[in-house]
Amino acid sequence: MDPIQIKTMDNFISQKVNNISPSGIRKFFDLLSSLEGVISLGVGEPDFVTPWHIREAATYSLERGYTMYTSNYGMLELRQELAGYLERHYGVSYQHEREILVTVGVSEGLDLALRAILNPGDEVIIPEPWYVSYPPCVILAGGIPVFVPTSKQNNFVLKAEDVEPLINKHTKAILIGYPSNPTGAVMSREELSKIARLAQKYNLLVISDEIYARLVYGVEHTCFASLPGMREQTILLGGFSKAFAMTGWRIGYLAANQQLIEAMLKIHQYTMLCVPTMSQMAAIEALRSGEDDVDKMVKEYDRRRKFIVKRLNEIGLPCFEPKGAFYAFPSIEATGMNSEEFAERLLMEERVAVVPGSAFGQCGEGFVRCCYATSLANIEEALKRMGRFVKKNR
Ligand SMILES: Cc1ncc(COP(=O)(O)O)c(C=O)c1O
Repeated sequence: MDPIQIKTMDNFISQKVNNISPSGIRKFFDLLSSLEGVISLGVGEPDFVTPWHIREAATYSLERGYTMYTSNYGMLELRQELAGYLERHYGVSYQHEREILVTVGVSEGLDLALRAILNPGDEVIIPEPWYVSYPPCVILAGGIPVFVPTSKQNNFVLKAEDVEPLINKHTKAILIGYPSNPTGAVMSREELSKIARLAQKYNLLVISDEIYARLVYGVEHTCFASLPGMREQTILLGGFSKAFAMTGWRIGYLAANQQLIEAMLKIHQYTMLCVPTMSQMAAIEALRSGEDDVDKMVKEYDRRRKFIVKRLNEIGLPCFEPKGAFYAFPSIEATGMNSEEFAERLLMEERVAVVPGSAFGQCGEGFVRCCYATSLANIEEALKRMGRFVKKNR
C-alpha cells in the first residue's frame, strides 16, 4: 500500500479558489491599519452614519419582536416599496411578488446572478477597470471573464464597437457597473442604448450593477432595464450601502424577469434563506422617508468632488471629471512611478492612502483611485500632502 500522503493545505483547497488572487485593495488596508496619522482616500464607503430615523426603524422592529425569518424573497412590504422606487426613479416596472429578490447586499446579488446563469466555460464581458469582485465572482461561478479596456480618452465609458469583436458562441452576458467604481464614469442613455442593441443582436444578458445610481452629479442615471426591450434581458442589481449610507446592514436587491428571479431564488433559499429582518425593516424606512437624506449626502459629495478634481489637476495629477459614485481616478504618469509604487510610497512618506489603479485591472495602471467619501477637511489635508509628494517626485 502507498504510504499515506500528508496533503498540503493547497490540496485541501479547491482549484478555483486557489486560482483567484486576493483583492489588491485588502493588502493596502492591512498596511494602513498598522500606521498612525493616515488620511484615507482608500475605502469606498460613505463617511456618513446611517440616518437616525432608519436606525430607529430597525431598533423599533427589534423592540416589537421582529426576530424571525422572512419570506425567501424578502418582506412583501419591502418588495412593494422597491417596486414603487424603481418605477418612480427610473420608470421601470417590476411585479413585487415575483420579480424582486432582496439580497445580502449587491455582493450576494452579483454572486446569485452569475451562479444562476453560467455553465462551465461561459464567457462574461466586463469593462476594465472593474470593481474588484467582478472577475473572481465570474470565475467562482464557473465562467470566464473577458475584459474590454476603456480609456481616459473616452472618459472610461464602454464602447459598443470594442465589445462586439469579443462576442462569440460562449458569450453569455455583459456585466456593467455605471456609475463606475473605480473611475466615477457615468454612461449616457445613448451610449447604453448601443450596448443594449448588441445584447439584442447576440441575445446576451446584461447584468447591471447600479449600486451608485443615486450618486450622480448634474447628469441623469439611466437604468439599463428601462431601455426599450431590455427589461427581459437585464438583471438589475441595486443596493442601500452607498446612497443611504448602509454598508454594514448588508442589504440590496435584484430585479429581473420572473424566471431569472426564480433561478436566483433557488440558490438564495438554500444558501442565505433571507436577509436579516431588522435590515429589511430599516430598508423600508429608507425607501419611505430617506429621500432628503440622500439629497443632502449627494450635495456634500458633489462639493467634495469639485474640490478634489480641481486640486488633483492643480498639483499635476490630471483627472477627468467623474460624474458619479464617489471616486476620482487621476493619472500619476507624471511621477514616472507605477500605481503600486506611487500608492505605497505616498502612504509611507506622507501618510495618505489611495488605491493603485492596477488593483482594478491592467488598464487601471497609471492611475490611482481616490475616494472622496471623507470630510472636506481630510481631503484638503490629503491633497496638501499629495501636492508635496508629487513636487518631490516629478
Ligand atoms: C460597484 C460595486 N458593486 C457592489 C458593491 C458591494 O455592495 P454591497 O455593500 O451592496 O454588497 C460595491 C462596494 O464597494 C461596489 O463598489
